[in-house]
Amino acid sequence: MLQLLLSLVVLSCLGAGLAFLLEVADSYLGFYGDCEININKGEKDLKVQGGETLLSTLMEQGIFVPSACGGRGSCGYCKVRVLEGGGPLLPTETPWLEPDEVRDHVRISCQIKVRGDMDIEIPPELFLIREFRSQVESIRNLTDEIKELRLLLTNSDSITFKAGQYIQFQVPEYEECPESVYRAYSIASPAYEPDAINLIATKVPGGLATTYIHEVLKEGDEVIFNGPYGDFYLRDSDREIFFVATGSGLAPIMSILYQMAEEKNPRKATLVFGERHKKDLFYVEEIEAFKQRVPHLEVILTLSRPEEDDVWKGERGRVTNVLEKIIKNGDNKEAYLCGHPAMVESCVELLVKKGVPEALIFFDKFG
Ligand SMILES: Cc1cc2nc3c(=O)[nH]c(=O)nc-3n(C[C@H](O)[C@H](O)[C@H](O)COP(=O)(O)OP(=O)(O)OC[C@H]3O[C@@H](n4cnc5c(N)ncnc54)[C@H](O)[C@@H]3O)c2cc1C
Ligand code: FES
Repeated sequence: MLQLLLSLVVLSCLGAGLAFLLEVADSYLGFYGDCEININKGEKDLKVQGGETLLSTLMEQGIFVPSACGGRGSCGYCKVRVLEGGGPLLPTETPWLEPDEVRDHVRISCQIKVRGDMDIEIPPELFLIREFRSQVESIRNLTDEIKELRLLLTNSDSITFKAGQYIQFQVPEYEECPESVYRAYSIASPAYEPDAINLIATKVPGGLATTYIHEVLKEGDEVIFNGPYGDFYLRDSDREIFFVATGSGLAPIMSILYQMAEEKNPRKATLVFGERHKKDLFYVEEIEAFKQRVPHLEVILTLSRPEEDDVWKGERGRVTNVLEKIIKNGDNKEAYLCGHPAMVESCVELLVKKGVPEALIFFDKFG
């Protein structure tokens, strides 16, 4: 018995040692030489150096796959079909893949490394995503926690996007951030202004990007970003629209409202914008102006925890309390939700209960 136990311990140690050596070899010696990545059956053939993740290898070649979490394996956005050369499915990929996606060779491109030749498939529209250089024209405090950045594209460049889409902001190396990372920010400005974009960023304690934006970035600095990405944009229909936002989740909805104002869009629409306290509200004047410019827009501002000295005649309670009150049934309605993941999830649950089809509920979770 003792002998069996000893053999098991020895075998486990050998296994662990081997795994460790392989990991060390991969990180330090990880030289996979020249590799070829064939995209969409020969539409593009890339000669690359192996050893990096598929996501960053493609990015170095100017092919930008959506990657809202910046390659940390926590968003599941960076899906790519890998027909050859992807290696075995990793435990870090499985939480993001449905069984039919696994069968269809879909992989999480920030988790797999280029270790040899690969055949992959990506949606052709990803070839249109570009990297942009810009200069910070202004930085404005919207609240104690939220800053607005206006980025002016340099070299007379211009960006084409659908109102509601987002970009990936490149955070350069700085004291708190030893290597450059990317984070997603929705465009808050109108799509008819192609030479500049506005972003709004809520400070996250210890957050790499938001600490950079709030404490390091200055007017005049260069910002590199790529995009546009995402399917959070207004669908063409005659259904009644419900926009719901908390915090910086208002950003893409501002862009959509600018578009509706420009087009004098006649659809019936309601914006429910929720914050905790009155001091957390922002863009209030701009929202008031939309009431004049978007023909059938109703606006409901709600505070979930108004302070005692807040003079407040608006709604009180969470955005879900407001939705519960104003939506009788889901007939001919669609919804656009943006903000904290927990808010989005509880709104989806409520809207589905009210009868709004899930396929007509669009959202971006800022988690
Ligand atoms: C499609 C999309 C669009 C987005 N648009 C915007 C936008 O317009 N404005 C905006 O401010 N953000 C937006 N975000 C969120 C943004 O991409 C970053 O996740 C966020 O700014 C935090 O980045 P960070 O590098 O500062 O924090 P990180 O370094 O990524 O995180 C530090 C820690 O904070 C936690 N954390 C991350 N985000 C939050 C949060 N929101 N609240 C509490 N804890 C958090 C992390 O889990 C981690 O533990 C968007 C996200 C997505 C997916
Ligand atoms: S980039 Fe977020 S999971 Fe890959």
